[in-house]
Amino acid sequence: MFKIKIPATTANLGPGFDTFGMSLGLYNSIEVEQKEEGVEIEVAGYGVKELTTDKSNLVYQSMLRLFDIVDYLPPGLKIKLINRIPLARGLGSSAAAIVGGLLAANKLSGEQLTTEQLLNLATEIEGHPDNVAPALLGGVVISTVKEQGVIYKKITPPAKLKTVVCIPDYQLTTAKSRGALPEKVSFKDAVFNVSHASLLLAGLLTEDYQLIGQALDDRLHQPYRQGLIPGLDEVIDNLSEEVLGIVLSGSGPTAIALTLQEEERIGTEMKEFFAKHGIEAQYLVVYPTDQGATIIEI
Ligand code: HSE
Repeated sequence: MFKIKIPATTANLGPGFDTFGMSLGLYNSIEVEQKEEGVEIEVAGYGVKELTTDKSNLVYQSMLRLFDIVDYLPPGLKIKLINRIPLARGLGSSAAAIVGGLLAANKLSGEQLTTEQLLNLATEIEGHPDNVAPALLGGVVISTVKEQGVIYKKITPPAKLKTVVCIPDYQLTTAKSRGALPEKVSFKDAVFNVSHASLLLAGLLTEDYQLIGQALDDRLHQPYRQGLIPGLDEVIDNLSEEVLGIVLSGSGPTAIALTLQEEERIGTEMKEFFAKHGIEAQYLVVYPTDQGATIIEI
């Protein structure tokens, strides 16, 4: 019997739409035991009511994709999902399910796929690499998909960087949030994001926290998504002095603050801005982590 521990992730980091992702110290676990026959799936934590426990479950479906490639099928499985990452909030819960399922299946079938192959398969299933890459590899991952597969570079998060996530009490699917994006953007806005994403990377690599704060602005997705997330513009614009910047986490509705200090106070303030719009939210102080998904023997 073994367990896979997979971190939550925050994608985009402001200007890095579909490109930047960072793993966070909040984890789902998947316990896996091989059995003589049958497939038994149990869910604890988030998703007890919503997630399917038959063969359509995303973790199991991801396992089947890998089993199919390596031509192996275990006689039976008992899988327990312990979900601490809230669903459909922009914190990478589906990426965690996919990465966890693939890692579990790879272990059960003799670890035939490399990390690169796992990343490519996870990206194929998820549709974009910016959550699955940091879920698998940890740290901050910059990635893109080319014909030959995912091209990526992992960097270690700046040592002093802390994050607070403020999670509104409603779900927003990535599909709906992507549906709010325009077909075309202006040349000016494209240049704005190229410059900001580049400066953000420079800031992350050189641990220049002031630069990180200056580089977090975005014109490609957040302005279009604000309509789906009442209060987000106020959360982002009303920065207290301690905050480097606040951005939408992935496709939302969670907002994430990047800071060096005062995490609890920042969380309370973010919560209050959502409350002004009648939206209940909870905040969590979760730090970036350099550790991706791990397999633990139990
Ligand atoms: N880059 C994706 C998006 C992340 O913003 O739609 C989804 O979590």
